[in-house]
Amino acid sequence: MPTPVRDILVTSALPYANGQIHLGHLLEYIQTDIWVRFQKSRGHRCTYVCASDAHGTAIMLKAQSEGITPEALIDQVKAEHERDFAAFGVNFDHFHSTHSEENRVLSEMIYERCRDGGAIKRTVIQQLFDTEKGLFLADRYVKGQCPKCDALDQYGDNCEVCSATYEAYELINPVSTLSGTAPELRDSEHLFFDLPQFQDFLKTWTTSGRLQPQVSNKLAEWLDSGLMPWDISRDAPYFGFEIPDAPGKYFYVWLDAPIGYLASFRAYCDQTGMDFDAYWNADSQAEVYHFIGKDIVNFHCLFWPAMLDKAGLRTPTGVNVHGFVTVNGAKMSKSRGTFIQASTFLQHLNPECLRYYYASKLNSRVEDTDLNLEDFVQKVNSDLVGKVVNIASRSAGFIVKRFDGELGNVDANPELSAQFMNAQDRIAELYEAREFSAAVREIMSLADAANAWIAEVQPWVIAKQDGQDAQLQATCATALNYFRWLMIYLQPIVPDLAARAAEFLQVDTFSWNDAGHALTDHRISKFKPLLQRVEMDSVNAMLEAGKASAAPADGGPTESGPTESGPTASTVAPLAPECTIDDFAKIDMRVARIDVAEQVEGAKKLLKLTLDDGSGTPRTVFSGIRAYYEPAQLTGRLCIVLANLKPRKMKFGLSEGMVVAAGDDDQVFLLDVNTDATPGMRVS
Ligand code: 2FM
Ligand code: ZN
Repeated sequence: MPTPVRDILVTSALPYANGQIHLGHLLEYIQTDIWVRFQKSRGHRCTYVCASDAHGTAIMLKAQSEGITPEALIDQVKAEHERDFAAFGVNFDHFHSTHSEENRVLSEMIYERCRDGGAIKRTVIQQLFDTEKGLFLADRYVKGQCPKCDALDQYGDNCEVCSATYEAYELINPVSTLSGTAPELRDSEHLFFDLPQFQDFLKTWTTSGRLQPQVSNKLAEWLDSGLMPWDISRDAPYFGFEIPDAPGKYFYVWLDAPIGYLASFRAYCDQTGMDFDAYWNADSQAEVYHFIGKDIVNFHCLFWPAMLDKAGLRTPTGVNVHGFVTVNGAKMSKSRGTFIQASTFLQHLNPECLRYYYASKLNSRVEDTDLNLEDFVQKVNSDLVGKVVNIASRSAGFIVKRFDGELGNVDANPELSAQFMNAQDRIAELYEAREFSAAVREIMSLADAANAWIAEVQPWVIAKQDGQDAQLQATCATALNYFRWLMIYLQPIVPDLAARAAEFLQVDTFSWNDAGHALTDHRISKFKPLLQRVEMDSVNAMLEAGKASAAPADGGPTESGPTESGPTASTVAPLAPECTIDDFAKIDMRVARIDVAEQVEGAKKLLKLTLDDGSGTPRTVFSGIRAYYEPAQLTGRLCIVLANLKPRKMKFGLSEGMVVAAGDDDQVFLLDVNTDATPGMRVS
């Protein structure tokens, strides 16, 4: 019995329209695309949609800083994203934008249904307001001193030093990171989605077999600790959709982002005549799957099903969550060149190699995936070039030269051919279950068996023997059939390689059903190399390029827009708000020697430093550098201390200054001081 055709709608998370696609993003798009290609090759009606996530403060500010409209920015980034996705073979049926009429209509509809169903509440909240920029500040745009441990320079939601969480207005001496000014605390009415109403619904929904066990368990913890109403509004100015019955208030970006899945599908249905309602009505029989990363589980498995349910729409059949990408065992890092953008990868390496490598590592669990670059080179060369393509390159020449490309119809190894044919169900089950690494292992064990057989029968020896033409043709044709089966099974992972293989074998395309028979009485074309080996030199060149592209901006425009140039204006725009020489003169920085460096019990990020600053009295500084330095590395070393910083009382003692360091998201380096300098020297 043929399997009934399934109606399946698939999405990947919508990329923000203010940054480049990088190798971390690509794990998800490649995972989803492989699954979709597999479903399509099985003959199912599978539709894959995505869109730019185009709203929010970050996009508004980025457009401002580039001196363009948000619309121009999101159009430009959308085009870049679509270019990168196409290059990596990520084949959306439709790629839309959340800043679209379809999304406005659907967002308003879902909001109104939730409101009319009693799930929206209004509450006045207090928030910090940047009077210079004229906007309320999201937590990440406020920094100040931690209200619990006094650590300086902490963001508005939690303290990196003592891990406390708090409201941004609780920070001591808060400063807007946008203008450098002290914000004001102001009242504002906000709209909340009343999530606690959905406690019972979500308890059932999250344990109904739609989610991976690890995800359900995490959600159970959150559900048990109690849900909070979710703030779905933001005050103007905000780039997004104005809330219909709340002038000057906009839907928070995360409200209309998942609705973007529907909007993209709506636009696709309008283009193609597909039936939108058949996929989204409450009683829909179609399947809907979201592929997402582990960082956005709350949005997809709590808010989203609750909103859909309240709006009378169906909820997803499944939410498939993956982990993060590490490169060479560590978080992707700009300074190591491993924060690799899709476009940088494309300049140096074949994108299908990444598809293959990710597939060879992915499974259905929420695990991080390590892109080990040496393993990547080794695996691609050994598997795709050495095991798969090699079968074709060793056999095709004889068929073309000696038999005019004809395969004939004799199977030289029926037993092994049966293994290739019979593997289809097992491999299909693995793809279906997103166990791609196990599917790749099965496929490669078939390739190993084919290569072992070829090595045993040695067609190149048969070719030299008189009267063995039939045997030679049958052997090479059988080997080419093994190559064909491998390509049928690998096609969802390496579609371009499969397309080149199809051209060489003179067939239109590969579909899963083709695995049910061998290719006989058929003429193939001349073999052309199908895949180049990957060279470590190319990987290294990519890393170098990654480092270069991560270099700090060279005086580009700032938050407040491009600087006007005039005869007296500097040609280099400031990276932070300007200060005067008098401001700088207030700062007393001194050379100091670290006499003692020690760990602080109970503080994950701090080291206690006892400094000789030349004054004769030891100075104690608590510094958040424990993750970057061992105490032994610091003892005896010269550093620079900000000596007139107001001492602050911390949970662990009094901190009398700050040691000066350079750093980014990944690393921190204490500034070096020439060893001829002596403690107490002034730094200016
Ligand atoms: O985390 C992100 O990158 C979001 N832009 C994902 C949105 S997914 C969806 F809900 F729209
Ligand atoms: Zn703290």
